[in-house]
Amino acid sequence: MSLFSLLSRTDFACQRLTRLIQTRLNQKSGCRFVNTVLQGLSLPPISSAEYESLRNEIATDRELAQRFEQRVPRLLEITPSKKITTWPDRIRYASAGVDIFYVLPRVIRPGIIVETGVASGSMTSFLLAALYHNATGVLHSFDLPPIAGMRSMDWTAKGVEEIGFLIPERYKAAWTLTIGDATYELPRLLVGKSIDVFFHDSDHSYAHMIYEYSFALKHVSPKGLLISDDITWNPAFFDFTRGTDARFALHRLNRNLGVAWWKRE
Ligand SMILES: C[S@@+](CC[C@H](N)C(=O)[O-])C[C@H]1O[C@@H](n2cnc3c(N)ncnc32)[C@H](O)[C@@H]1O
Repeated sequence: MSLFSLLSRTDFACQRLTRLIQTRLNQKSGCRFVNTVLQGLSLPPISSAEYESLRNEIATDRELAQRFEQRVPRLLEITPSKKITTWPDRIRYASAGVDIFYVLPRVIRPGIIVETGVASGSMTSFLLAALYHNATGVLHSFDLPPIAGMRSMDWTAKGVEEIGFLIPERYKAAWTLTIGDATYELPRLLVGKSIDVFFHDSDHSYAHMIYEYSFALKHVSPKGLLISDDITWNPAFFDFTRGTDARFALHRLNRNLGVAWWKRE
């Protein structure tokens, strides 16, 4: 083996080890997770009573519950192995999603949220419920026109009209959905805007993730957040946060979701 390939192997192993250590150190759950992010944004912490009350708000949300339970047959068609058929079970299993997409936006009260990748709209519906209860803020979502066999990731909607089928009608007032590739549509719609929360859940190729993270870094406000799903699929999230001196927190109940922020004056 040449010295060069030995060095690059060692470098690769070091990077993996650093990622493993970072992942362990940055894991939290529940109210501690939420307060870690709030502290990162220099916002005051919430009490465990406030935290429980916000979780209870979504657990008892009739709009979300009804919509979810009505759509269970379609969800079972999409993922037959997921046998979640009631709203209380949904909330229990999506515990990390509740903290990240409901509790955090209820506390932070973002003005503009951007989301790439909607599909059924499971996380979109949490975000929109938070904005509805905040009585302020808008969510701009992006998804591709579903074309069978094309860039559909693990699942995509049957047609444009099915995108976001878990979102209750009442919560759609604060929502815009743009159908098109985020690569072109993000700059077309959002250049010059200040974004408070950017959520990536579209194309999880390394290049596209870095593209969207870079767009987010350029556009998130000083107290803004970058949230990414599927961060364990490749090193993009870890490379990007390290390269841009970002801090991040991972949710212990779903280490595939990362929440990052930057210290800015
Ligand atoms: C994993 S799904 C999103 C899941 C969704 N966030 C949820 O919580 O249910 C990925 C979605 O990203 C969309 N997508 C993939 N590449 C895209 C791109 N370049 N621009 C916009 N949307 C894209 C796909 O059409 C698919 O609907």
